[in-house]
Order: sequence, then structure tokens, then C-alpha cells
Amino acid sequence: MTMARVRNLVNGLVIPHTDFLELSKDKDQYIRILIPLETCIDSYHSEEKFGVFRMRKGDIWILESTVPHSAINLTSDDRRILSLDFRYAHVPSPHYSMIFKDPSMRDETIAPALVLRTKLDQEDLQDYLELLSARFNEKDDAEQILLKLSQVQLRFESPVSDIYRNLTEVAKLTKRQDLVEHCEKMRKFYIGSRVMNERFPLRKGIT
Ligand SMILES: [Fe+2]
Repeated sequence: MTMARVRNLVNGLVIPHTDFLELSKDKDQYIRILIPLETCIDSYHSEEKFGVFRMRKGDIWILESTVPHSAINLTSDDRRILSLDFRYAHVPSPHYSMIFKDPSMRDETIAPALVLRTKLDQEDLQDYLELLSARFNEKDDAEQILLKLSQVQLRFESPVSDIYRNLTEVAKLTKRQDLVEHCEKMRKFYIGSRVMNERFPLRKGIT
């Protein structure tokens, strides 16, 4: 085990991102499991292909963390998750089953708590992006717009990466090149490519 941490997400967003980007050469050696310790009714996880879902107590999750994913808690109640990273440096393509000593604990008949989403009309989306663009005046506003777009993604069918695509669309609507460049830089940092120890400063409420 290389890392164990408990994170409480309260009324906040884990910014859409992919993990291990800076370790791209060795990323296949890592397996991360997530164990919800405390959940609340209005907190969600979102993964590029899998969709939006809730983690329930008793669940153990293994996410494909090399594709874009995010988390959000819309309430001010606690949502605590234990995150454990395992590294198998000498096992080619390690499988998560290696982590568990007692395989009988695993019950694949339990369905995940997936959130049903509806289709979003392109025209509706465009209207919303235009509305958001009127609130985009400086680079710092990008985070609040990203938060709004993340909330939309909870309810309407779209992959996580669309959040950044839409953010850039909002920036383009402002006709401000500096804002467009800022949003593209954000996208690249979080779901594109980044180097070891590179940081992108964020404000409170978004991690
Ligand atoms: Fe992650």
C-alpha cells in the first residue's frame, strides 16, 4: 500500500480530473480502491464512461482513474471516503482481486446506485452556455462556471470531459482570447497532460 487517506467532501466539488497523469509510464502498476465511510443523500461521483452514481456504505469501488472523473456534494453534510492506493511494481497488469484476502465478500449481484440522467437538448445547452458567458469576466470566474457545468452534468447525459469542452465554449462566447487560453490550460492540466509536481491553484470549495 502506498497511500491511505480519508477525505471529507462537504458542499464542494472534486474538480473533474484524471489521476496518475504525471506517472503515465508506471500508471498500470497502481490500483486505487475507495471505501465510503459516511455518505449523504445528495453526493455523487461521475466517471467518463460509467456515468453518475452514488457511493453507498458497504460498497467498495475501483474506479478507472485514468479516465476523467469527478465528485460533488451538494449538501453541507459529511461525505467521507477512505481511499487506498496499492502499487504492484513487479506484477504485470495487476488485478484488484489481489488486494482482497477473502473473495467471498464480493457480491457482484448488488447493483450500483446509478443516477438516471436525461438527454439534454443542444439548444437548451447553448442557451445555458450563453447565460454563463455573461458571468465570465475574469479567469477566476472559470471555477464557478465549472461548478455550474458539473451540476448540469449530474442530470443530463454527457461524459465528464464535456464539462471542460463546455467551459471552453463559454469562454469562446465571451470573445476573450485570454479566457479561452485559460480554460484550455485548465483542461490540459486536469484531463490532458501534466508533469510531476505541476500545480493549478484553486479557490476554496473546489479541490
Ligand atoms: Fe481521482
